[in-house]
Amino acid sequence: MTAPRKILTVFGTRPEAIKLFPLIHALERDERFVSRVCVSGQHRGMLDQVLEIASVAPDHDLDLMQPDQTLDALTARLLTGIGQVLDRDRPDVVVVQGDTATAMAGALAAYYRKIPVAHVEAGLRSGDIHHPWPEEVNRKVIGSFAALHFAPTATAAEALRCENVDPAAIHVTGNTVIDALHWITDRIADEPSLANDLVPLEQRFAGRRIIGMTSHRRENFGQGMEAIAAAVARLAARPDIAVIFPVHLNPNVRAVMNERLAGLDNVALIEPLDYPHFARLLDIAHLMLTDSGGVQEEAPALGKPVLVMRETTERPEGVEAGTAKLVGTDADCIVAETERLLDDPAAYDAMAHAHNPFGDGQATQRIVELLAL
Ligand code: UD1
Ligand code: UDP
Repeated sequence: MTAPRKILTVFGTRPEAIKLFPLIHALERDERFVSRVCVSGQHRGMLDQVLEIASVAPDHDLDLMQPDQTLDALTARLLTGIGQVLDRDRPDVVVVQGDTATAMAGALAAYYRKIPVAHVEAGLRSGDIHHPWPEEVNRKVIGSFAALHFAPTATAAEALRCENVDPAAIHVTGNTVIDALHWITDRIADEPSLANDLVPLEQRFAGRRIIGMTSHRRENFGQGMEAIAAAVARLAARPDIAVIFPVHLNPNVRAVMNERLAGLDNVALIEPLDYPHFARLLDIAHLMLTDSGGVQEEAPALGKPVLVMRETTERPEGVEAGTAKLVGTDADCIVAETERLLDDPAAYDAMAHAHNPFGDGQATQRIVELLAL
């Protein structure tokens, strides 16, 4: 009998935790593997929210978040900290997800030790190294040496082949975010009290259509965020809508949004929601206004149109399928496109009924089988 394969999953932020907990659950259940978990703590509060609901207990927690951290100091701490964990744990494979600083540094630390890297959500490309920044470069770095590339879609797989990645190392799996969404939806169905806290807001905004909103991208800081806030303030003048906006803990986001939007009657600026409550927000929202990556993938699974407040997207499948539309960071454009969806039922229905291209909820199982080979 062969020895179980030792997999170390390394992550540090909210979206990585959401997209990796289904895989961690599956590895823990499977005797072909010994599963170990290292969290960097790049995010603290927003990471812990996910660890708690998904019952993931890390074997290593580097706890390295600092307020308003810079990319270079963060990356230096990550490389050193994760490197030390790898020296102690000596895994057979390191799993990373996506394109954060933790994913890039975790992969690089493994490469420096000649440990094979498996990359979940491989092959996303916007083609512009400044949008999203620095994520486009982070994922290209990982893609340049990963041993296994788990591409969520055929488009992502093709992007990797175009960069001369060995086709035998590329596998189209779907995105694990859909597996995570199914898991949380089932949990809420079993235990509705997990997602009850929005009820007072739902009552306050009864009769209005809810716009769910998130915004956090570094490349939007400054002018972009100001324009996004201005657009929301203009939309909030409509009596038939209300905006529910869980504000990211990044102080650069909070400063602008609090200054521009606090005090508006039908805008609720609230703390980051845990995953069950965010799933509930997706459910009650009429549409989502966001610059998030994950929300572009999740919202269509619940039939909610997504207006993407970015200049480019590395998830063109959503735009092509009609589930998402790029509206940039110009206030006029954001307002016009949102009002079109609010006022033109045919435009709304076309987006709400488009097919979600990001996965079927089986990505985790495909990845597990590939890791076992
Ligand atoms: C990071 C990722 C980004 C991802 C996003 C998801 C990088 C370079 N960026 O961006 O790809 O889309 O997470 O949300 O990896 N903070 C807290 N508590 C938290 C989380 C953040 O206080 O739980 C504050 C801290 O002041 C921290 C700052 O936010 O320094 C920025 O966090 P950081 O992880 O560096 O960047 P994000 O913008 O969150
Ligand atoms: N999310 C959450 N609570 C919130 C906002 C978002 O749980 O208040 C979840 C959301 O469901 C999605 C993920 O966080 O799965 C997206 O994370 P984020 O937008 O921070 O990062 P990105 O996906 O842009 O990297």
